[in-house]
Amino acid sequence: MGCDLTRETVETMMTEWHKSDWRAKPRVQMPDYMDEAKLKGVEARLASYPPLVFAGEARRLKHLMGQVSRGEAFLLQGGDCAESFAAFNADTIRDTFKVMLQMAMVLTYGAKVPVVKVGRMAGQFAKPRSAPTEVVDGVELPSYRGDIINGFDATPEARVPDPDRMLQGYLQAAASLNLLRAFSTGGYADVHKVHAWTLGFTHAPEAEKYREIASRISDTLEFMEAMGIRDEASHTLQTVEFFTSHEALLLEYEEALTRVDSTTGQWLAGSGHMIWIGDRTRQPDGAHVEFARGVQNPIGLKCGPSMTSGHLKALMSRLNPRNEAGRLTLIARFGAGTVGEHLPRLIRAVQEEGANVAWVCDPMHGNTIKSSSGYKTRPFDAVLREVREFFAIHNGEGTIPGGVHFEMTGADVTECTGGVRAVTDEDLSSRYHTACDPRLNASQSLELAFLVAEELSQRRRKVAQAEAV
Ligand code: PEP
Ligand code: CO
Repeated sequence: MGCDLTRETVETMMTEWHKSDWRAKPRVQMPDYMDEAKLKGVEARLASYPPLVFAGEARRLKHLMGQVSRGEAFLLQGGDCAESFAAFNADTIRDTFKVMLQMAMVLTYGAKVPVVKVGRMAGQFAKPRSAPTEVVDGVELPSYRGDIINGFDATPEARVPDPDRMLQGYLQAAASLNLLRAFSTGGYADVHKVHAWTLGFTHAPEAEKYREIASRISDTLEFMEAMGIRDEASHTLQTVEFFTSHEALLLEYEEALTRVDSTTGQWLAGSGHMIWIGDRTRQPDGAHVEFARGVQNPIGLKCGPSMTSGHLKALMSRLNPRNEAGRLTLIARFGAGTVGEHLPRLIRAVQEEGANVAWVCDPMHGNTIKSSSGYKTRPFDAVLREVREFFAIHNGEGTIPGGVHFEMTGADVTECTGGVRAVTDEDLSSRYHTACDPRLNASQSLELAFLVAEELSQRRRKVAQAEAV
């Protein structure tokens, strides 16, 4: 136990909340495992394994998210809708990490503040679904709930929830995090290299409109070099801080990896740096909120169109009773054209409570449509439109648009339509690989970063003008 905590303080902390308290609350979107003995065996094994993250890292991310909430930093959160066991390899991890670094650099240039990088990676396996069953090729089956719960194959056997999948999830998360840590500090993240990749994108004729920002970044790097800053700041220019996050949906897995942090006596969800609560599992008295409220990690909360100001107030007081900066991130996901209908009431609820929150835009989950070719897709223009509406409303309310949350991959998939290297409805079938929702591909992700960077620079100019008068 920490040296400056009395036994009494620690005991109070421990009796206020326990990692298994969620079990007494109503649960939704979680599997019913048939084999109780097998489930208990897996939970016991996971509970004996090391956690994946250290409490100091979660506190560091919370500190950075506090900066995001005040506009001193900007959040880039991105990765797969659902990580899959089949696509688990070094290239997949590297390519998503790489495009996130490129995006972060472009966003830093636009925002002129540090960009906090958080992957939907190393644990993003479990999925909430809109219905308990789905029809695949005319056959009704239990819904696929993510590789950590059941199998994607369209057979009744594959769809049976299997606790052993949690062990594979843990192994995959540990190996992914190991590689991400290696890339972050081992030389792969050097700014000059990252910028050279971006120039590869902007040199293509169709990306011409982004060349100007890219060349301004080149100028800045050359200037810094001439000033000798490269040697002075080599650590800063060659390494990055990269964090992991996922939806804390499968609470048996989360509980098994939750530990008391020996330096503070507080609980830590050891499965990733940040966890979030989905739009379907945010019942204030439900199991998921009960779990998240007791761990010290930064917590995300998805806010969809059905979120009322009353719900939000109840959730803020449950999830962040001490109103700690950086603890709570509200991830707005309404859909293009409807942000103005929903965001203002939630901004008001936050203001009425005097709550510290970071506001982030997820422009993916409210913009999913069925394409004419039958695939679930998201049009690039709708994604961009929602981000712009989110910025416009915050600008109007005088509040801070703190970041973006994307479903994306570094791979050259065809899942979302549009972008300068236009993906059409007809193209969707060629490389549609997602295990769940459609993701932006590498080119679409980087393009979006350029467009968000423009929003950020315009906002900076407006704020500066307003301050000057
Ligand atoms: C997700 O982020 O993949 C997701 C299911 O989001 P939401 O809870 O916002 O629908
Ligand atoms: Co999704």
